[in-house]
Amino acid sequence: MTRKTVFITGATSGFGRASARRFAEAGWGLVLTGRRVERLQELQKELGSKVPVHIATLDVRDAQAVARIVAELPDDFRDIHCLVNNAGLALAPQAAQQTELADWHTMIDTNVTGLVNVTHSLLPTLIRSGAGASIVNLGSVAGAWPYPGSHVYGASKAFVRQFSLNLRCDLLGTGVRVTDIEPGMAETEFTLVRTKGDQAASAALYQGTTPLSAEDVAEQIFYVASLPPQININRLEIMPTRQAWAGFAVDRDK
Ligand SMILES: NC(=O)c1ccc[n+]([C@@H]2O[C@H](COP(=O)([O-])OP(=O)(O)OC[C@H]3O[C@@H](n4cnc5c(N)ncnc54)[C@H](OP(=O)(O)O)[C@@H]3O)[C@@H](O)[C@H]2O)c1
Repeated sequence: MTRKTVFITGATSGFGRASARRFAEAGWGLVLTGRRVERLQELQKELGSKVPVHIATLDVRDAQAVARIVAELPDDFRDIHCLVNNAGLALAPQAAQQTELADWHTMIDTNVTGLVNVTHSLLPTLIRSGAGASIVNLGSVAGAWPYPGSHVYGASKAFVRQFSLNLRCDLLGTGVRVTDIEPGMAETEFTLVRTKGDQAASAALYQGTTPLSAEDVAEQIFYVASLPPQININRLEIMPTRQAWAGFAVDRDK
């Protein structure tokens, strides 16, 4: 059987790094991308003795860099069977009216523009791979459920959800599957990034409860990508058992 290859964005941390390890465990070849080259090198060192690993430093916001990296994939890594569109971030957990416009732009540029940059570049190889190929997009519960401080982040993930469903329509007949994975609270570097390095705020969010781990989510990513080719999971919403929704908020006279 020929070895399958997965292309992962944001492989330097969290879900992306855990996914690299999970796919490697199952013998897949890896194309690992992210901005922090030293972390990519560490992962290549860790997994390179088990499976073929190609690393490429990539900022997904740069459409030309994305196209170049895809065009320059070594021969052994050209046939991509799965794209894990994972690179993303939340910033500015404050109320919308207290945020910096630049943070909104960074979220849109990464979570929306970056994700479409990579998808567009890899569609030809995914379609060539055909039946059983998949695009696994990292959405979020924030794409469906509103909460204070979610503003542009949640809206960017609503884009990911709808883009995933719309891609399904256009890819009908190609065999390429599309899934929007929508995790709830998971402990990664996500909150450290969201609070711009506030380790205490990050620790406080996860303290005294049981969030999802990066490995929990990676297992779901691997699951949808390794199902028999006739099965497409459209959306997969996953929350920790210890997380649920609050009620409606009401503004009352003081
Ligand atoms: N953790 C959660 O609670 C949660 C819940 C729902 C959804 N998500 C989503 O899951 C995905 C992964 O998040 P995570 O929790 O694993 O967070 P994380 O630990 O902070 O990892 C985020 C990854 O995205 C990469 N990245 C960020 N900006 C990038 C850019 N411009 N170009 C390329 N790579 C970039 C980072 O790599 P570099 O910095 O090295 O580039 C890093 O590898 C994100 O899309 C996030 O929105 C997270």
